[in-house]
Amino acid sequence: MTTLKTVILAAGQGTRMRSRIPKVLHKLAGKPMLERVIEAAQTISHAISIVYGYQGDTVKAALSSYDIDWVHQAEQLGTGHAVKQAVSESEKADQILVLLGDTPLITSQTLNDLREKTAKNEVGIVTIHLENPYGLGRILRDNNNHIVGIVEEKDATDEQKKITEINTGIMLLPTQHLKQWLAKLKNNNAQKEYYLTDIFAMAVAEKVAIKNVSPQFVEEVMGINTRVQLAHLERVYQQRVAEQLMLSGVTLLDPSRFDLRGTLTCAEDVTIDVNVIVEGNVSIGRGTSIGANTILKNCTIGENVVIEPNVVIDDSTVGNYCTIGPFARLRPGTQLAEKVKVGNFVETKKAIVGEGSKLPHLSYIGDADIGKHVNIGAGTITCNYDGVNKFKTTINDGAFIGSDSQLVAPVTIGEGAYIGAGSTITKDAPAHKLTISRAKQITIEGWQPPKKG
Ligand code: UD1
Ligand code: CA
Repeated sequence: MTTLKTVILAAGQGTRMRSRIPKVLHKLAGKPMLERVIEAAQTISHAISIVYGYQGDTVKAALSSYDIDWVHQAEQLGTGHAVKQAVSESEKADQILVLLGDTPLITSQTLNDLREKTAKNEVGIVTIHLENPYGLGRILRDNNNHIVGIVEEKDATDEQKKITEINTGIMLLPTQHLKQWLAKLKNNNAQKEYYLTDIFAMAVAEKVAIKNVSPQFVEEVMGINTRVQLAHLERVYQQRVAEQLMLSGVTLLDPSRFDLRGTLTCAEDVTIDVNVIVEGNVSIGRGTSIGANTILKNCTIGENVVIEPNVVIDDSTVGNYCTIGPFARLRPGTQLAEKVKVGNFVETKKAIVGEGSKLPHLSYIGDADIGKHVNIGAGTITCNYDGVNKFKTTINDGAFIGSDSQLVAPVTIGEGAYIGAGSTITKDAPAHKLTISRAKQITIEGWQPPKKG
């Protein structure tokens, strides 16, 4: 087995993004584009070097969870110069895979094809024919259709400019040869740059075989220079994700109005209405439907759940047969058992809710442990915060909380207890009894409405 190191070129400033954020940190489907390139590389190579230039600290900080060998290229003197910074004399890997940090949709499949086709001492390159090859390096071939070199747009003759096969920039190179070739690069060209592409003519002169593969789809090798191009690739990515979901048994009412910014696992017959955004790791069980304009982030949704429109769920678990919303917000730490109902304008946070309990309207339930078959009346609030510390509310099985009650934590409501509507509960309420804290209703005899003076 040959050993491989990946070198990702990412030193370019990306001025056309017109941004204070380095280009490679702009996100595609919720992830910095450079992170997508790293993930593709990781499928075939453990060792990864990234050549960076501008705002290195920002880039490193954003990708600190990856084991990367960061290589600084102070001046952008060309792609050949960039690769040279990352391939030292003592480099041990047999082959160097060159990737571009601003080409985020490259797939592991294309990289695998390249690896399989390119033997240890050969040169491999990903090329593609484009209708409009303007600006890109053109692949030169001889009469036997063998690759004999690459010429940059700015150095090309009118005849060469007609060539439609281009250099994607993605290559697999034999390290020992590469070291010698990089040492020989000159910058006597139109851009006064050290072109990595010049090594192709050197390979030909030394009779090193050159192999090429093509990507499955053109967007895989499209580089991003502007926010317009970023938006285009985002749509391409989302369309592919949507197609995969539909083919795996998910109904998307409009695949062009669905956004996945993470990983989604769906069982069969999940239905997703328009404008749903899925972030982080989300799984949805069989037969569940997700209403329009809902945001699901890092959550597990059970089977046969009905999520009505305009719900936001974050870091929470929803059991089978629950109904949520419309207009509900489940904040981190919410865990709903089966058949729980969370209705409109209800906010939960760190709320553990037992089977069959109902929180139907206008409530805030935070830091609460709620048993089974509890009914929370409209407008009930857990007062969990004294301005400094948070306290817990416990409501035991079968309790009934009358509307517009405030449960001042720490407080426990006993099993089967009733709380009269409009109560402010500051002490534990006993099981199976009615507890009420509001003043008795009276009507004042002889009362007169105020008169104008
Ligand atoms: C390069 C290729 C061209 C190819 C095109 C594909 C060369 C000489 N030309 O064009 O054949 O069709 O890519 O996009 O290789 N970079 C550095 N340091 C540098 C220069 C570039 O890190 O000194 C990085 C850039 O950040 C970018 C990538 O290399 O990610 C490609 O550079 P770019 O200037 O976009 O491409 P060209 O050199 O024009
Ligand atoms: Ca350039």
